[in-house]
Amino acid sequence: MVCLGNICRSPLAEGILQKKADEKGFQIEVDSAGTSGYHIGEQPDSRMRETAKNKGVSIDHLRARQFEVEDFDRFDLIYAMDKSNLKNILQLARNEEDKKKVRLIIEESHPGMGLEVPDPYFGGQQGFVTVYNLLDEASDAILKKIQNGER
Ligand code: 4NP
Repeated sequence: MVCLGNICRSPLAEGILQKKADEKGFQIEVDSAGTSGYHIGEQPDSRMRETAKNKGVSIDHLRARQFEVEDFDRFDLIYAMDKSNLKNILQLARNEEDKKKVRLIIEESHPGMGLEVPDPYFGGQQGFVTVYNLLDEASDAILKKIQNGER
C-alpha cells in the first residue's frame, strides 16, 4: 500500500486489509510505504488514527517508511492510492515484471474508472472518513479476488 507520506492513506489501507485478512484466516503480509521521505519514522496522522479507531482498526503501531526498489521483490502486489503515487512507483520499476505488480487500488472496487483515494492531509475530518470508506470497499474487493484465485 503506497501513498505520498505514509501517514494517512497507506497505513490505513494496511490496517484495514490486514485486519480483514486475519479475520478470514488468510495468511498474507500487508505493508505500507510512502513515495516521499518527508515523514519517515512518524506515527500515522492523529486524524487518521482517530478515524480508524472509531471503526475498530488500530494503526497506532505503524511507522512511516519510504518505498524502495527492494519492495518489488518483497511483494506480489503494489497498490498506489493515486495516479501521482502510481507514476512515482513505476519510475522506480526495473523491468516489466516490476511494473505488472503495480496498480491503482480503487481499480479493484471500481474497475476501469481511474478513481483515486483523495489526499486528506490538507482538508477536514470528512476527508478521512471518505478515505476510510473507499479503502474498506477496496479491501473487500481484494480479498474476494484472493478467495477466487484471481490475485
Ligand atoms: P498521505 O497524506 O500521502 O496519505 O500520507 C499526506 C501526508 C503528508 C503530506 C501530504 C499527504 N505532506 O505534504 O506532508
